[in-house]
Amino acid sequence: MKVLITGGLGYIGSHTAVELSSKGHECFIVDNLINSNRDVFNRIEMLGKHPISLMMVDLLDQKALADVFRRFKFDAVIHFAGLKAVGESVKNPLLYYEHNLMSTLNLLKEMKKANVKKLVFSSSATVYGDLSTPPITEDAPTSIINPYGQTKLMVEEILTDLAQSDPEWSTALLRYFNPIGAHPSGLLGENPNGIPNNLMPYLTQVAKGKREYLSIFGNDYPTHDGTGVRDYIHVMDLAEGHVKALIYLENNTGAHTFNLGSGRGYSVLDLIKTFEEVNNVHIPYRIVDKRPGDIAVSYADSSKAERELGWRATRGLGEMCEDAWRWEKGLEKSVDKTME
Ligand code: NAD
Ligand code: WQD
Repeated sequence: MKVLITGGLGYIGSHTAVELSSKGHECFIVDNLINSNRDVFNRIEMLGKHPISLMMVDLLDQKALADVFRRFKFDAVIHFAGLKAVGESVKNPLLYYEHNLMSTLNLLKEMKKANVKKLVFSSSATVYGDLSTPPITEDAPTSIINPYGQTKLMVEEILTDLAQSDPEWSTALLRYFNPIGAHPSGLLGENPNGIPNNLMPYLTQVAKGKREYLSIFGNDYPTHDGTGVRDYIHVMDLAEGHVKALIYLENNTGAHTFNLGSGRGYSVLDLIKTFEEVNNVHIPYRIVDKRPGDIAVSYADSSKAERELGWRATRGLGEMCEDAWRWEKGLEKSVDKTME
């Protein structure tokens, strides 16, 4: 398939591009580098099996996007591009509504004009908020607790309306749980700007000595050790989920929601312990106040994805920790050095 990947230089997009290319698909990436860099493209090309095209286009620039659709005829689109920092979305909601909604509307308009009607969308388990009791199924009620989550739910609704208005549209709304880990080569991984918001990138920076200690946000949650429990999923498993979703869309019209998680919940302390064991490093930590908006426990029921997509997560927490650490350790090396 000829696949347009928006945000394909980002964390999840880059791993998915490699996976698609390895499976023989032709990939076209658009990215405006707002949260990535061009070097990632060289690495995707090294790891993939087929040449990949890159276009530096901002999805907010409708004319530039129209040009992309004029130049190439795609079979499907995977839409990763967007802003994703929950805290920033609370401080600057207009930025998030404008960025995440306008870019998606621009994309959908161009897809419609070009008669490209297959789309995989990056949604998030954040849409479940704090109402549901895990394991969370796709029909659990949604409850939005921040503007970022609101943009995800709004796009899901737009895509559902679109599929209802025109039976030719096929869309997969993938609700990711907590993606962590990196490509096993150590060439691709998560590289957030500034102070990481999420647990794993913070933890790897502590392991490297870049930060003094990890703050654990609360230890009196109703969980087995008092720290928050999440469903961590290896980014390579997630990448494989996107390939399966694309194949599914070939034969299934309508809007389809899938949880992509491992189905297992681990606490912050479980993650630290596993990381220390598999990587033989020490992680200093301190217990601090809970982070506002955090919930105690979240993990997926991903049986729908297993049943309908033929997908399930296969990589365990130890592998996630090993791969994340390999990536972090090699971060400052240039591409050429890393390949030596
Ligand atoms: P990321 O920030 O690493 O990747 C997003 C990419 O999109 C970046 O390369 C960025 O430069 C690009 N981009 C952003 N706005 C753009 C625009 N207007 N035009 C062109 N390119 C643009 O994020 P990620 O972690 O890879 O997440 C990918 C998607 O998955 C996002 O939509 C995110 O909301 C969603 N998601 C992520 C997580 C997570 O924990 N990482 C969890 C659930 C859902
Ligand atoms: C995991 C656990 C924290 C950092 C977020 C978004 C969600 C989705 C995935 C995009 C929690 C604890 C964290 C730290 C800690 N992204 N923690 N110290 O909050 O589950 O989900 O990323 O869609 O929308 O909200 O992930 O990695 O931030 O936290 O103790 O320095 O680690 O309290 O229990 P979260 P996270």
